[in-house]
Order: sequence, then structure tokens, then C-alpha cells
Amino acid sequence: MRKPLVAGNWKMNGLRASLLELSMMARAYTPVLRARVEMLICPPVTLLFPAAASALGSGIKVGAQDCHAKASGAHTGDLSAEMLFDGGASAVIVGHSERRADHGETDADVKAKAEAVIGQAMLAIICVGETRAQREAGKALSVVQKQVKGSVPAGVSADQIVIAYEPVWAIGTGLTPTIADIAEIHADIRKTLARLLGKETAAKTRILYGGSVKPSNAKEILALADVDGALVGGASLKAVDFMGIVEAA
Ligand code: 13P
Repeated sequence: MRKPLVAGNWKMNGLRASLLELSMMARAYTPVLRARVEMLICPPVTLLFPAAASALGSGIKVGAQDCHAKASGAHTGDLSAEMLFDGGASAVIVGHSERRADHGETDADVKAKAEAVIGQAMLAIICVGETRAQREAGKALSVVQKQVKGSVPAGVSADQIVIAYEPVWAIGTGLTPTIADIAEIHADIRKTLARLLGKETAAKTRILYGGSVKPSNAKEILALADVDGALVGGASLKAVDFMGIVEAA
């Protein structure tokens, strides 16, 4: 019922030469894979337009990593959801933990950004996840519940949002939670979504896992019932690694 989504977040990595990796991904995204798994690459915004052009016809979608909540105005250096759509994006990541940490983004900010993305008929990928200290204090579930409640706009449908669960301590560290911990938190996120959006919408909404996903651990993680894909950082920069994860999905 839920088609898996494997999304790559290139973060602040990638120059024009990196588009070669995207071309290789496009060639490796066969009709069989296309039928079974959705693929999205979120390059830095300097590459958005050429990435959309080089992915054209391949079925790979291209997205952005953040946007401003407002439609336009005096916000030097910021980009609106409409600009990103105009540049070729069909999805935007909002509330990544690196933005929450580096730019002080709150749940309310993330919700406003998600609303802007949805307002442009793009997919909002809403990120949540606990820090190491919060997990060690036994607060992972409650922290993530609060983030989901505060960051997901009211009344959205399952094709407008994706939730990405990314434990902060698993990002770029090579560490991952146990399979049981991932299963527990994804099931709990679906429960929270059911309370917010209704059972039917929650059952259709995709929940991705992110944090040190590699070809070698993807199969086990993606096999979990409530894991509907992955949000991949480091391993999305190289076609061979990323396609290994797409194939696992
Ligand atoms: P890594 O896959 O490099 O751990 O990054 C995960 C992430 O933050 C994706 O948004």
C-alpha cells in the first residue's frame, strides 16, 4: 500500500561535477525499480535546476533541503517554496536536525515551512529525532511524539507529507539504533499520526528512517513493517552506494 521512498540528502556537498553521480543513478533506476521504489535526490540548491534537468525522464525526483515559510519579501539569502518549485523541486526537507540545531528552528517554524511546501503542491519531508542525551534519559519516544505533534500541519493528507525519523546521534556516525528500537519508534510515530490525522491517513503516510543507512544495513532496516524508506546522507553522494539502498528497498 505504501510505496517506499529512498531519498538522498546531499547536505552542503556537491559541485556541478557531482551531477555525474546523478546521471549514473538515473541509468541504474530501471523500470523494475521505478515500479517498486520512489527515488528522490535533494542536492544543494545551486544544483537544483541542473539536477532536475539531468534527472528528467528518469523518474528520479529532485528536492530541496529547506525553505522559508513566507511566500516572498525582505529575507536576504532565503528561498521560498515557490522558488524551489520553480527551480525544479517536487519535495522539500523541513526540520532536519542540523537546521534545528544550527538555525534554532522550532517545531512551529518547521510546521510553517511544511505548510509553505504543501501550499506549492510539493511533498514536505518532516524530520524528527532525539539526541543521544534524550535517548539515554529514556525520553526518545516522548521527544519524537512532541516533535511530530508540533511539526505536522493539521488536516494534511498522506500524499502531502513524509515523516523522517532521524536520531541525531545516528547521523553521520556509523551508529544506528537496534532494529527493535527503530520498530518501536516508527510504530509510535504512526500512532501519533493517527491521533493527529486519523487512522486512515496515518496508515497511508510514509515514515522513513535516517541515520547511517548504508547498503549493508538497509535491507534489515527497510524490512520493518513501519519503515517505508530511508533518508540517506553520506551514502547518497555516490551512485553505487545509493543504488544499493534503493535495491534493498
Ligand atoms: P547519514 O546518512 O550521513 O548518517 O545522514 C543522515 C541524514 O541526516 C539524512 O538527512
